[in-house]
Amino acid sequence: MKDITILAIESSCDETAAAVVRNGRTVLSNVISSQIALHTLYGGVVPEIASRKHVEKIVPVVKEALKAANVTMEEIDAVAVTYGPGLVGALLVGVSMAKGLAYAAKKPLVGVHHIEGHVAANFIEHKDLEPPFASLVVSGGHTHLVEVTDYGVFRIIGKTRDDAAGEAFDKVARAIGLGYPGGPKVDRKAKEGNPDAIVFPKAKVGGAAYDFSFSGLKSAVLNYLNHAEMTGETVNEADLAASFQKAVVDVLTERTEAFLKESGYRKLAVAGGVASNSALRESLKAMCERCGVSFYAPSPVLCTDNAAMIGAAAYYEYLKGAKSGWDLNAVPGLKLGER
Ligand code: KG4
Ligand code: ZN
Repeated sequence: MKDITILAIESSCDETAAAVVRNGRTVLSNVISSQIALHTLYGGVVPEIASRKHVEKIVPVVKEALKAANVTMEEIDAVAVTYGPGLVGALLVGVSMAKGLAYAAKKPLVGVHHIEGHVAANFIEHKDLEPPFASLVVSGGHTHLVEVTDYGVFRIIGKTRDDAAGEAFDKVARAIGLGYPGGPKVDRKAKEGNPDAIVFPKAKVGGAAYDFSFSGLKSAVLNYLNHAEMTGETVNEADLAASFQKAVVDVLTERTEAFLKESGYRKLAVAGGVASNSALRESLKAMCERCGVSFYAPSPVLCTDNAAMIGAAAYYEYLKGAKSGWDLNAVPGLKLGER
């Protein structure tokens, strides 16, 4: 079969990214321009600033991706882009760039769901991984337990009722004073702390065995901090970070284990920014070993936002003939399983 080379663009949040991916699994280049330093000043992503920075970076990032891959636009078979979910202004920059490039070069355009991209990040380093498999998607906006029944085909088994796992990390990091970006900072701090120092509640969602809830845990951390402040006790930040992280990791692992046992899936792939969390990776790996399930996780750089994962997902959409029209628009609230 002829090689399919895809130029992929991702700009849904605070990374401007472009990549060239061959046959969905081989990354020829993966360029990521992070805006973290810029948003750190404000303690979180400022949408308008993110959009402006994407406008500034998108052309150099795409040029660099083509150059690093040593391919020209003529050698590209399709242009792929994240069109949702995400920040509307940020998404629009990538979508407009991809449309312009594809139209000018007379190449097909493939709109990709951001979360489908996160899951597809697993295909890059695990050449043997093919659907069907179970997947735990944990990012800044999503906490979903899903069945991947075919490439790009998802059945949602459970999801968060309130905050996403990454959102809980970010909010707790802010409360402890670790700042943005919260997840990696809590992860690092937790390494110095005792995860059993503080016992936080593990929320069960009534009647939904596989749903998650993290807002109660977030409130418990805030209450703990308020109580310490009122009584003049000093807070051990490392213990707090480790105990909070353990509560999140335990719940994610328990629900996933229950689903694996019920469904009989022998493969689990974790995806999304929180999948780079060291404690979560260890816990899921140990659980999978215990259950005789093969565990897949992308390298940390492919867990957080990047365009290589969009190129991987786009390849399978391209094979299915799922091309987008020139009216492709940013869809900030795009749901998983929708196209
Ligand atoms: O997938 P992602 O890069 O963007 C979204 O699609 O949301 O995920 C970002 C989220 C943020 O909430 C960030 O704090 C979290 O992933 N995150 C982590 C870690 N690295 C990133 N959470 C826990 N531990 C980490 N090491
Ligand atoms: Zn993401």
